[in-house]
Amino acid sequence: MKVTKAIIPAAGLGTRFLPITKAVPKPMLPVFDKPTIQYIAEELRRAGIDEIIIVVSPDSEVIMRHFGRAPELESRLLSDNKKKLYEIEQETCSFNVKFAIQKEPNGLAGAILCAEEFIGDEPFALLLGDELIYAGIDEQSCMERLLSIYEKTGKSVIATMEVFGDDVSKYGNIGIASEEDGVMQVSAIVEKPSIADALSNNAIIGRYVLAGGIMSKLKALKPRNNEIYLTDVLDELAIKGELLASTFNGVRYDVGDKFGFVKANVEYALMSAEMGEDIKTYLKELAAKL
Ligand code: G1P
Repeated sequence: MKVTKAIIPAAGLGTRFLPITKAVPKPMLPVFDKPTIQYIAEELRRAGIDEIIIVVSPDSEVIMRHFGRAPELESRLLSDNKKKLYEIEQETCSFNVKFAIQKEPNGLAGAILCAEEFIGDEPFALLLGDELIYAGIDEQSCMERLLSIYEKTGKSVIATMEVFGDDVSKYGNIGIASEEDGVMQVSAIVEKPSIADALSNNAIIGRYVLAGGIMSKLKALKPRNNEIYLTDVLDELAIKGELLASTFNGVRYDVGDKFGFVKANVEYALMSAEMGEDIKTYLKELAAKL
């Protein structure tokens, strides 16, 4: 079955970014000239996924407004003959976005289950809102690669990258049974293990394509510490030989972390057609003074 829908969990409180996240939801923090959530919507469009379900906290109407139409703004831009800005506005409200509300922060699986009414037991893509993955126009993006592996095999597939030292304990970690051309058969998963308990140096990053039936599996899970864990379902799939992992092209930015957020801002600004050259000159001048 073709994957046509995606879930973006984006209801986190963003406490690491206080005070800005007191009134502004974290997915609206800008990377260069767009909110982070819009880059993820663009990543999905590029991969051919049309229907996006964003899981938001109850006070996130500003995200809904961002993707909605703004008739007054549109007519103002038209009457002022600001064509380029009008196109930017048209692009912003061109995504097929639906919203699900996560009333309490009850983990990643809790967020996914909030989107159940839109997904049922269909396969879906899952993209964590704190991570941006840049891929050049001429390379296969991470999501395109995961979807092509899913379409070939019918198995759930997660994106993975190598991590070392203390970073191992920041991510879900996978055991690898076999590997061919960057596609791995996953044997087991542990969530944020100590270095001693890690199964490999392969961390799970925030891009997944999950086969049909995952919602029912999540609902059937027994809670641990009052939470249910996506990792438990992934581990169940891994043990049955139904979970693949894949490396990917491009650069991953952890925009949920202040350093990662600054790096993303600098690098996306450098890639901008409009301003990249000016920013490069400025950065060189600045670097010479440091
Ligand atoms: C989540 C997942 C973890 C994954 C990580 C990627 O953790 O539970 O397996 O490695 O995203 O960023 P979180 O960072 O939300 O705690």
